[in-house]
Amino acid sequence: MANDYKRTLVTCALPYANGPVHIGHLAGVYVPADIYVRYLKMRGRDVLFVCGSDEHGVPITIKALQQGCTPQDIVDKYHGIIKKAFADFGINFDIYSRTTSKVHEATASDFFKKLYDEGKFIEKESEQYYDEQAHQFLADRYIMGTCPKCGNERAYGDQCEKCGSTLSPDELINPHSTISGAPLVKRATKHWYLPLDKYEGWLREWILDGHKEWKTNVYGQCKSWLDGGLQPRAVSRDLDWGVPVPVEGAEGKVLYVWFDAPIGYISNTRELLPDSWEKWWKDPETKLVHFIGKDNIVFHCIVFPSMLKAYGGYILPDNVPANEFLNLEGDKISTSRNWAVWLHEYLEEFPGSQDVLRYVLTANAPETKDNDFTWKDFQTRNNSELVAILGNFVNRAVVLTHKYFEGRVPQNLKPEAIDTEVMGQIPAIKAAIEDNIEHYRFREALKEAMNLARLGNKYISDTEPWKVAKTDMERTASILYNSIQICANIAIACEPFLPFSMEKLARMLNMDSREWEAVGSGEILAPGHQLNAAELLFAKVEDAQIDAQLKKLEDTKKANEAAEAAAAPAGAPDPAKEQCTFEEFEKMDIRTATVLEAERVPKTDKLLHLKIDTGLDQREIVSGIAEYYTPEEMVGKQICILANLQPRKIRGIESKGMILMARQSDGKMRIVSPEEPLTNGACIG
Ligand code: 2FM
Ligand code: ZN
Repeated sequence: MANDYKRTLVTCALPYANGPVHIGHLAGVYVPADIYVRYLKMRGRDVLFVCGSDEHGVPITIKALQQGCTPQDIVDKYHGIIKKAFADFGINFDIYSRTTSKVHEATASDFFKKLYDEGKFIEKESEQYYDEQAHQFLADRYIMGTCPKCGNERAYGDQCEKCGSTLSPDELINPHSTISGAPLVKRATKHWYLPLDKYEGWLREWILDGHKEWKTNVYGQCKSWLDGGLQPRAVSRDLDWGVPVPVEGAEGKVLYVWFDAPIGYISNTRELLPDSWEKWWKDPETKLVHFIGKDNIVFHCIVFPSMLKAYGGYILPDNVPANEFLNLEGDKISTSRNWAVWLHEYLEEFPGSQDVLRYVLTANAPETKDNDFTWKDFQTRNNSELVAILGNFVNRAVVLTHKYFEGRVPQNLKPEAIDTEVMGQIPAIKAAIEDNIEHYRFREALKEAMNLARLGNKYISDTEPWKVAKTDMERTASILYNSIQICANIAIACEPFLPFSMEKLARMLNMDSREWEAVGSGEILAPGHQLNAAELLFAKVEDAQIDAQLKKLEDTKKANEAAEAAAAPAGAPDPAKEQCTFEEFEKMDIRTATVLEAERVPKTDKLLHLKIDTGLDQREIVSGIAEYYTPEEMVGKQICILANLQPRKIRGIESKGMILMARQSDGKMRIVSPEEPLTNGACIG
């Protein structure tokens, strides 16, 4: 079926231009799409690879507000960063444009206008939250209040980031505007809705009957949306950032970002091919494939197809191979918590190692379930697979060919010199790679491609040409001839996965063309063909590099915890400490004492110098309580002390022990005293 189409249009989810891209983006969407496109292009298929930045939507306006700049400043900055990161990782889009382009504004606006003119929308007035101080309607994200589920006072109108609950602004306790802080009022406003319910029957047939081959995670999500019943969806918003709604009386309203963003795929194709874009979008002989993450499934499988159907004349996606999510060291990747491996930072820390990340992210891709990226796995896959198998084999083959045959593919071989046993395995590997890629199973495809390197590595290890060369040059020539042919197969078959290293390998092998069909076809490099010098394909990743990455994540974790503690409302308890044993507790000599004298420690704000009666002795203590108690308040007070704490010199005074204090999470402190006076030295425990 895949081959019945004349051409393939591949799109990748347009990333929001409000932050850089991270490994989760690469693993979920961009690397698999790039593998797919490179493979099709190598097979000589007519392919177009389209993407761009998604530059509208509320989060971008919030970021601008927080940073005191305009939304345009934000998207200009991140569009550049994202575009460069993709180029740096070899994600070779034919166009990477943006939804603030003129072409997009016109395309999205016309799209809306046609549906509007043809009466495809429902017009509805509803009550929405309004900020009377800022004079604007508020998107759910602009509303904050207390989460009814966990008490978090900073929950958003759409979600509580603390407990993960999905919320609506009506559920929040004390909802207020994040723009002005004002309490909210409700006001009537008019919007346009796409009546998805009307497309339900058609969608059921098209997806549930017609696309049973879609990945189970995608099919399952569609089914559950359809079984739940579809509702009309608003396609406009009250906002001043976006494509204006092109209708009279719609001032202050823009197209909802999820209405305009997918149209971005069309606009970007149009921008690239102003005269021939239509064949990519309207000719049924075009195969359309959307690569996305799982959070985008409903928009690409239900909403966008309904928009296209409503418009008429457009093709629909043949497949939407959505991936699940990639976690990082066991935790969800989060931009706001800086819990991510950012692509631009990775390249600073592992320069020239794009393929290592592409490899690890493909080998461990979240194709059927969420997966975890760990630095340890990154190191192992690099050292024991890329270095030890692929790199090692290629290096031995090329270096030995230089050593024994002046870098020429051995020649004048007898027909039996070709190892048909080994070479004969390649066509089946090629077929397996093809089948897996065409069915969007990139992990499996990579495994098969690596089987070529395994085959070569085993062959050269088993035949030991470096030993054979001592006695039998004819056999050595045969082994190296076969080895170099395997290298050439690898240079082609691994190209979609490891484009940078395979470019290097092709340079070493002096290959000027790499056509897919050559894989498994027998001789690729003719006897006598001159190779170039050997270069190392992969370098070992050292423990210190991994430790540095783990330390960086550890620091991020600590910074997040500190920020959360600082933002915690007064009264919220400090996190629990580690368990201790009874023996550890018993070691502490805690007892009552009375303050006899007290004075401030000169030139300090926080310290009091106390003389106390412990029942055992009279001693001096320096305590950091001057912000909470005056010396006068302290004299005569009964306190509790840790009497056997190691003495410590503070400001030249030897302090023997520590006063027990209760500290609230907002920093407020009070002395802990017995409920009624006791004799000094009464033991506590
Ligand atoms: O989830 C996201 O990052 C969206 N910006 C994806 C948009 S995909 C498409 F519709 F443009
Ligand atoms: Zn909550």
